[in-house]
Amino acid sequence: MAESETDRRSSSRHARTRDPLSIDEKISRTLKDLEATTSEAVAELFAEVTAAMESERQALIEGGAADERERSQKAKELRDRWLARKGGLVSMIDENWLKPASKELKPGVGRAFNELRRRAAALETDRLIQDVPVRGGAAALPQQATLKFGAGVPSLKITEAATDLTLPGFRRPLGSIHPVTQVMREIEEIFLGLGFAIESGPEIESVYYNFDALNIPETHPARDDWDTLYVNSETVLRTHTSPVQIRAMEKHGAPLYIICPGKAYRHDNPDSTHATMFHQVEGLAVDTDISFADLKGTLDYFARKFFGDKIKTNFTPSFFPFTEPSGELSISCVFCGGEGCRVCKESGWVEVMGCGMVHPEVLRHGGIDPDRYSGWAFGLGVERFAMMKYDINDIQLFQQGDVRFLEQF
Ligand code: PHE
Repeated sequence: MAESETDRRSSSRHARTRDPLSIDEKISRTLKDLEATTSEAVAELFAEVTAAMESERQALIEGGAADERERSQKAKELRDRWLARKGGLVSMIDENWLKPASKELKPGVGRAFNELRRRAAALETDRLIQDVPVRGGAAALPQQATLKFGAGVPSLKITEAATDLTLPGFRRPLGSIHPVTQVMREIEEIFLGLGFAIESGPEIESVYYNFDALNIPETHPARDDWDTLYVNSETVLRTHTSPVQIRAMEKHGAPLYIICPGKAYRHDNPDSTHATMFHQVEGLAVDTDISFADLKGTLDYFARKFFGDKIKTNFTPSFFPFTEPSGELSISCVFCGGEGCRVCKESGWVEVMGCGMVHPEVLRHGGIDPDRYSGWAFGLGVERFAMMKYDINDIQLFQQGDVRFLEQF
């Protein structure tokens, strides 16, 4: 009862207001306040807003600007009036019309709102600037300039009012491909060339795929080697790309030659060599008669392709629950050529990835018969590779989004 009372009061207030509301006033009220209860009424409101927006844009274009500064300023003003995140008319429509809309009206309001937003893109400063002429500008040039041809050299006489056409235009800065993506693609190219296919898997992974199926049972101390971020007791942010080994085996069976580039997450304290999120490339080959020699040959070829022909490789024993035997691949230090320096801790070698022969238990978990098939696998850190390739000394730089760093690649 109390509610309908208020409703009546507010509607009679509107009824008494003779002056039609301005577009800004409409936008600052809800659809209910505006008594727009049908989809026709909503469509009409959006049509009005679109027309207002378009006519403001036209007015700016027709009015032009005295100089470049005024043009940028006017373009920015109009842009902010409509598109400012806070208090811009478009975001107010979102707040006042769309969000509180009734359940029946909402889908229609949403559609109209998206269409409005699409059109409003024409008000982005960059686009507006291109549309708004500077007065006495290029358009006036043909009548005011005289072309003279003398001694075969065309010369252009331009009156004072005309724009100097030799001034540089607006340059739109082009981004570049992130170094991590570049390195990942380079690694992909090398393995695609060897006949490997690219697989992917979820970053939010089950404990089963991330650990159990990889022969890392709950009570095994090796589980602590991965500082895991748990989503809940059955779900983790994958700590490595190895779960994709199992997923790929389940999906495709043997023979199988795949790599999986992707993100991995660890509960590490960030420093110059650790990041909570980083990238790995996993590799897996399963076939009849696959031996450690295939693993060595393939990774040696890969290292030379990636780092250059002078690189030497060295395998040392290691441990991973999902490979047996396991190894660590080192390459001769790219910085000192194997002489010994700070990066390689005077050893001449740098460890670059873990690898080994796929454990029979892991093949079994992937649905593959270990008596018939064998396989090898490796896992490498992409940031690590990028750091070595480009001599970068801090892994954090990859995630800070500093253009001065990124545009160097
Ligand atoms: N998953 C291991 C890690 O993240 C790397 C690895 C992959 C080792 C495959 C052996 C075989 O440390």
